[in-house]
Amino acid sequence: MADSAPASFLTRANAILRKNLTYQKRNIWSNVRLIMIPFYLCICLLCIQALFDSQVNNSVDNQCGCKCIDKTGEGKCEMVCGVQYSSRDQGVFCAFPKPQPWPPLILIPHPQARAADASFTDDDSCRRKNICPVTILLTGNNHSLGATLSNNLLKRSFTMDSSDLFSGVADNLLATTYKGSATNYLDAGIVSDLTMYNIQPRCPPNSNFTFSVGQAPLNFTKEMRCVQGLNLWRNSSREVNHEIFKGYQQGNSDGKISEIVAAYDLLDTDRSNFNVNIWYNATYKGEAENRGNKRNIKLVRVPPLVNLVSNAYLQYLQGAGTKMLFEFVKEMPKQETKLRLDIASLIGSVFFTWVILLLLPVILTSLVYEKQHRLRVIMKMHGLGDGPYWMITYAYFLAISTLYIICLMIFGSAIGLKFFRLNDLSFQFVFYFLYINLQISIAFLVSSAFSKVETASVVAYVYVFGSGLLSLYLFHYRIEDLSFSRGWIFVLELFPGFSLYRGLYELAQYAYEGNLIGKDGMKWKDFSDNAMDEVFYIIIVEWFVALIATYYINKISSSGKHPLFFLKKQKPFKKSPYPQSTSMHRRVSTVSVEMEKLDVIQESEKVKQLMVEPSISHAIVCDHLKKVYPGRDGNPPKKAVRGLSLGVTSSECFGMLGPNGAGKTSFINMMTGLVKPTSGTAFVQGLDICKDMDRIYTSMGVCPQHDLLWETLTGREHLLFYGRLRNLKGSYLNQAVEESLKSVNLLYGGVADKPAGKYSGGMKRRLSVAISLIGSPKVVYMDEPSTGLDPASRMNLWTVIKKAKKHSAIILTTHSMEEAEFLCDRLGIFVNGRLQCIGNPKELKRRYGGSYVLTMTTSSEHENDVEMLVQDVSPNAKKIYHIAGTQKFEIPKEEVRISEVFQAVEKAKRNFKVFAWGLADTTLEDVFIKVAKTAPAFNVFS
Ligand SMILES: *[C@@H]1O[C@H](CO)[C@@H](O)[C@H](O)[C@H]1NC(C)=O
Ligand SMILES: *[C@@H]1O[C@H](CO)[C@@H](O)[C@H](O)[C@H]1NC(C)=O
Ligand SMILES: *[C@@H]1O[C@H](CO)[C@@H](O)[C@H](O)[C@H]1NC(C)=O
Repeated sequence: MADSAPASFLTRANAILRKNLTYQKRNIWSNVRLIMIPFYLCICLLCIQALFDSQVNNSVDNQCGCKCIDKTGEGKCEMVCGVQYSSRDQGVFCAFPKPQPWPPLILIPHPQARAADASFTDDDSCRRKNICPVTILLTGNNHSLGATLSNNLLKRSFTMDSSDLFSGVADNLLATTYKGSATNYLDAGIVSDLTMYNIQPRCPPNSNFTFSVGQAPLNFTKEMRCVQGLNLWRNSSREVNHEIFKGYQQGNSDGKISEIVAAYDLLDTDRSNFNVNIWYNATYKGEAENRGNKRNIKLVRVPPLVNLVSNAYLQYLQGAGTKMLFEFVKEMPKQETKLRLDIASLIGSVFFTWVILLLLPVILTSLVYEKQHRLRVIMKMHGLGDGPYWMITYAYFLAISTLYIICLMIFGSAIGLKFFRLNDLSFQFVFYFLYINLQISIAFLVSSAFSKVETASVVAYVYVFGSGLLSLYLFHYRIEDLSFSRGWIFVLELFPGFSLYRGLYELAQYAYEGNLIGKDGMKWKDFSDNAMDEVFYIIIVEWFVALIATYYINKISSSGKHPLFFLKKQKPFKKSPYPQSTSMHRRVSTVSVEMEKLDVIQESEKVKQLMVEPSISHAIVCDHLKKVYPGRDGNPPKKAVRGLSLGVTSSECFGMLGPNGAGKTSFINMMTGLVKPTSGTAFVQGLDICKDMDRIYTSMGVCPQHDLLWETLTGREHLLFYGRLRNLKGSYLNQAVEESLKSVNLLYGGVADKPAGKYSGGMKRRLSVAISLIGSPKVVYMDEPSTGLDPASRMNLWTVIKKAKKHSAIILTTHSMEEAEFLCDRLGIFVNGRLQCIGNPKELKRRYGGSYVLTMTTSSEHENDVEMLVQDVSPNAKKIYHIAGTQKFEIPKEEVRISEVFQAVEKAKRNFKVFAWGLADTTLEDVFIKVAKTAPAFNVFS
């Protein structure tokens, strides 16, 4: 038998866990499909990578060139690879045992962006002709020293010694507008088609020269175009800063860009000290495509600037004859290399964004499903409190999501995606784990905004694909555009989809780079070297915020308040906007009502008595229970229940009759804790419904008006779940479920093991009743339990309820008088929020049905005869119905005896033809109609 102690947290957790697992087992195919998504995507990435490898990474253009050479002269050739057999594109992949030297280059602005000096009075003229000079600024403490160094900076006259190429070239200052180069096996400035420059103080005619460097195939002949270089003195480093800032593309007010090459601050340099600061432009933009190079690429262009000023200083100390030239740069020798672009990592970030976001719709729809079908409420009524529900649901989704990402990581690593292989697994796991926590809390949060599964899933999928695409086409470029404010990036990352993308992007970048240079990807030690720390903090903070907001919203909505209730001034309900009419109506109706309802007054006396000296025989005691719904949109408040006093004993079935809208459901809702009473209270087993609802739930069963069932769970699984919530265990549980199924006739033909979604309306109804009765709760509320049942099932159900009555107090509402009469020990007719009468069915019939109804059908010419006959029998008879020969009369019981009526009719039959006739006692239906009619008219003001 049922354990009287309420189920512990663990028991309830176990119940809901098992229910969820069964639910998921039913949905096994959609779960498999879900788990397969990461698998498909990983395979898809693998294919893309394979295609890319074959087309790009392994293509002959992207490896050192080879040739078959017949070395021994025997006609057998041997593959030999090397620079000499390669094209220019291939060359860079070859082994360089003896790397070639390249002249050092400095970076100068594009002709259109150069600062034009005062010597060109008209800016645009130099720009149009592409001959704007390049500017180097100097400053320092000693102007005369500065002037000397400035003179030494650029070589006065142009010479070119072709015999010793590098020292000849090194005398000049060579420049390019190309931003930099990853390697110096081939300087990109030389390889590219951009013009190269030779900076001179003045450009005489024919000062351009050509220059060749390198061995075939990596040999280049470039024309060096002369460009005028200006060394300008500025009085302070502040001025230099100001000018550089003005030159910066966005800093210039007149829209013209005027960039300078570099600037030197000589500080306190004198004969015995050489101190210098150098400004150079290291702003990266797009040209060097990966991060590893981003940091040091510009530095290739910096040493010539250092050499320039050092050389000038040396000449100041030692005279023009002494030189310290920077002849060439040369890389270290290197092995043959291969192109190793991991395209899967690059495009992986958006794929994995989708993979992880896809869990959101799954969680959200499942939450909204329980909300839409009001399963949450019914579980609550069966003792599953908010705390356990949210915690267990959370833990459950967390487990599912964790499993999902573990699958993703295992698939990904197993098929060899660099993204998973190179990045530290624990790091990745922590990142995903934090994110799925955020995702679950967000699903919890937004689930309160949806009431339909369809809307929720559409919105969720739009969110998933939308954030993926926005990340790819909008956010991605913002991250890579270093001129885009990092502050705004941070703001964008507050959007969860973007923070996920950012994390994955960083991981992808590390994997890509790691693969390129043969290193590992992201490790814990790289945590704060990139935006990862920022992303982690955002996710953690949002997670907590979402949890708190969810908690808050739930708290509010379950107490029925407006979410911003604290902003609103609470309007006291008692003050009606129509004070005058209120008092009048109240007085009038009170008088008329109180006269009639002696039985109701008696009941309330009984309750008063019970309140003073409680008795255990009464399972339910309602003490002046009231519910007023506050007026909305200018409507006056609606009084749904206006002071209900009622006592129901432990094995009583109390029936509540009443027209629609009478307040029955409000009453049930108060008793089941869905809404709080406005005033008054009720005691269930001595526990106050306003304070101890959670304890009441453990001994309460509810059969709601609409069946609240999980479509995919079977009848048996429903009962097992609710039985567990009722603290039934082991063999008791199975036995109770079996009995319960048998009693509602669901055991035949394997019905019990069919999903509830396939049940007919009647079967669902019976299951709902069985659920409400499982575990023999002390009190049971049933809202129209037998609607939609065929007569046989109904009878069956009634038997079940009658049996349950032995150990439970039952309150049921119904529209079927037959049911009320059959099941209920007492009945109350409830109209306009008040009990109009109360008593057992027989008593009520006697009280209200003081008459018989005589129905007689004749041809229409004999209608008058019939009337006369009735007058004879009973002078006070009233005609209540008349149509085409059929007439109905109400005959007061005290005036006639039934035998008299029979005699009168027999006599009449001899005189005229009577087609049909009948005499009926009052039915409960008549009582109901009469009471409902005589009740004071519904009036919103009273
Ligand atoms: C500035 O430098 C010149 C040499 O160019 C030197 O003669 C002079 O003393 C220096 N002035 C100061 C204030 O150090
Ligand atoms: C810089 O200083 C010199 C002399 O000290 C002065 O003639 C000149 O106007 C100053 N230039 C600026 C731009 O202040
Ligand atoms: C540095 O170079 C970038 C890229 O060409 C350019 O946009 C920027 O204006 C330059 N900055 C300065 C101070 O010249």
